[in-house]
Amino acid sequence: MAHVAFVALLFLLLVGHCLGGKVGICYGRNADDLPAPDKVMQLIQQQSLKYVRIYDTNIDVIKAFANTGVELMVGVPNSDLLPFAQYQSNVDTWLKNSILPYYPATMITYITVGAEVTESPVNVSALVVPAMRNVHTALKKAGLHKKITISSTHSLGILSRSFPPSAGAFNSSYAYFLKPMLEFLVENQAPFMVDLYPYYAYQNSPSNVSLNYALFSPQSQDVIDPNTGLVYTNMFDAQIDSIFFALMALNFKTLKIMVTETGWPNKGAAKETGATPDNAQTYNTNLIRHVVNDSGTPAKPGEEIDVYIFSLFNENRKPGIESERNWGLFFPDQSSIYSLDWTGRGNVDIMTGGNITNANGTWCVASANASETDLQNGLNWACGPGNVDCSAIQPSQPCYQPDTLASHASYAFNSYYQQNGANDVACDFGGTGVRTTKDPSYDTCVYMAAGSKMSTTNSSNLPVQSGFSPSRFDKNFYLLFSMLPIMIAACIV
Ligand SMILES: *[C@@H]1O[C@H](CO)[C@@H](O)[C@H](O)[C@H]1NC(C)=O
Ligand SMILES: *[C@@H]1O[C@H](CO)[C@@H](O)[C@H](O)[C@H]1NC(C)=O
Ligand SMILES: *[C@@H]1O[C@H](CO)[C@@H](O)[C@H](O)[C@H]1NC(C)=O
Ligand SMILES: *[C@@H]1O[C@H](CO)[C@@H](O)[C@H](O)[C@H]1NC(C)=O
Ligand SMILES: *[C@@H]1O[C@H](CO)[C@@H](O)[C@H](O)[C@H]1NC(C)=O
Ligand SMILES: *[C@@H]1O[C@H](CO)[C@@H](O)[C@H](O)[C@H]1NC(C)=O
Ligand SMILES: *[C@@H]1O[C@H](CO)[C@@H](O)[C@H](O)[C@H]1NC(C)=O
Ligand SMILES: *[C@@H]1O[C@H](CO)[C@@H](O)[C@H](O)[C@H]1NC(C)=O
Repeated sequence: MAHVAFVALLFLLLVGHCLGGKVGICYGRNADDLPAPDKVMQLIQQQSLKYVRIYDTNIDVIKAFANTGVELMVGVPNSDLLPFAQYQSNVDTWLKNSILPYYPATMITYITVGAEVTESPVNVSALVVPAMRNVHTALKKAGLHKKITISSTHSLGILSRSFPPSAGAFNSSYAYFLKPMLEFLVENQAPFMVDLYPYYAYQNSPSNVSLNYALFSPQSQDVIDPNTGLVYTNMFDAQIDSIFFALMALNFKTLKIMVTETGWPNKGAAKETGATPDNAQTYNTNLIRHVVNDSGTPAKPGEEIDVYIFSLFNENRKPGIESERNWGLFFPDQSSIYSLDWTGRGNVDIMTGGNITNANGTWCVASANASETDLQNGLNWACGPGNVDCSAIQPSQPCYQPDTLASHASYAFNSYYQQNGANDVACDFGGTGVRTTKDPSYDTCVYMAAGSKMSTTNSSNLPVQSGFSPSRFDKNFYLLFSMLPIMIAACIV
């Protein structure tokens, strides 16, 4: 009976997680080689993406999203803020021509009015709130002000201070438009939208921000906020909390924060050493797991945070350094640069087409620090439910010697890792696995390497490590196992 109760509890926990933060994608179109919007829509559906952000109200794009069930965030570009702020009639006409004919077939849920105005080369900041108010008035006349949420996106540059997070403060030079905007957001129950890029924090200051910290790696050194004692294990949380504390300082603590862009470039200039498909996959994989799991942040544990990953495609017309043009998950020919598990629950990359280009020369081995018990559990798990072929570590086989737990566990961990997408979550093993770029093969014992067969998604072993370390694997788990397909289905619906 106790077992049944235990399983029921796990079931509730998992279903609870289905209500986690939402993960969307930014569909930027600053390129001359992208597929037509209807082709893009097919790609988005193939990836089972449900939330998409665009930067304008391009009619072909809006039409392509009709009757797809995808929720769309559309944008008023900075260049339109002047006419939008000047005359209500301009906004009424825009709504009548660009939104109303396609709504609700196209499920528009957010309108961003202005994008990162503090970064705009032309000073348009003073126009944002008047434009937001006019959009609100137009929506109200159409009876849509409760259905479509209005906000505006910001860069982290709107803060004058972001470290430590508890010292987060808005730049007082922006108070003249920020205060009325925050009041508008509260009145309309709209979120504060921010674009967050741990990549730049790392790239601009690799000596102060470690790659592990930027990539949510469990191997990262914690950063402790001396004022609050809060422990930060990743840069993303620290950036969100700096916004949260800045809002608190102005007494806007009830505003929700939404991350309207974040991501990692897959390629960069020679000096941009962090910009690789492997790092991009690691960042986005860990981000999704973090968000879906409602981990929240140290200042707001358990808080639901919605994020939009930047970006769907590489965009060849973006100016600036090399990485600017390489934030995509896909090449313009729709082949994938790396794959992502959008459910955030699996340990396996869900292969929906496209090639995995990461994992060139990385292996996964047992950590030197791991306890014998943890290693044994991990080994049992990998060779059992993990579906690894462990014959090579049997007596008289090539990898039996040295006959130590660490050596056998390393062999099994690595095989599991290589078969399951070779991203760092596939080398977790309750914290006992570590990735290495050194080939652990010796003598005739050959460790599986990148490019080895990828297991197709095996839904029965998919979520095993999302919430349970192998050490907690027991027979209750087999019971739970049988229910997982139902739970996953419930989450996806
Ligand atoms: C931008 O314009 C506003 C009002 O028009 C002004 O108060 C502000 O100082 C300007 N900001 C900059 C950086 O010039
Ligand atoms: C605050 O914003 C002003 C106007 O953009 C800028 O000149 C100044 O450097 C900023 N201050 C800080 C501390 O970032
Ligand atoms: C690292 O942080 C220190 C102290 O905040 C600062 O003085 C230094 O300029 C930073 N280094 C880099 C490379 O940004
Ligand atoms: C994916 O793999 C196929 C077959 O190996 C290859 O033809 C294609 O060019 C690859 N695509 C990318 C984007 O690497
Ligand atoms: C993998 O490494 C080899 C040799 O260093 C290199 O030629 C190849 O381009 C790499 N592949 C990827 C996908 O990075
Ligand atoms: C393992 O121990 C070493 C040295 O004691 C330490 O530097 C490292 O961070 C530890 N690794 C893990 C994963 O705990
Ligand atoms: C999927 O996993 C189950 C349970 O571990 C196993 O019995 C089955 O053979 C696996 N299927 C494939 C296609 O690997
Ligand atoms: C959620 O995330 C926390 C911390 O990142 C982790 O300890 C926990 O195991 C995760 N839970 C699930 C269900 O993934």
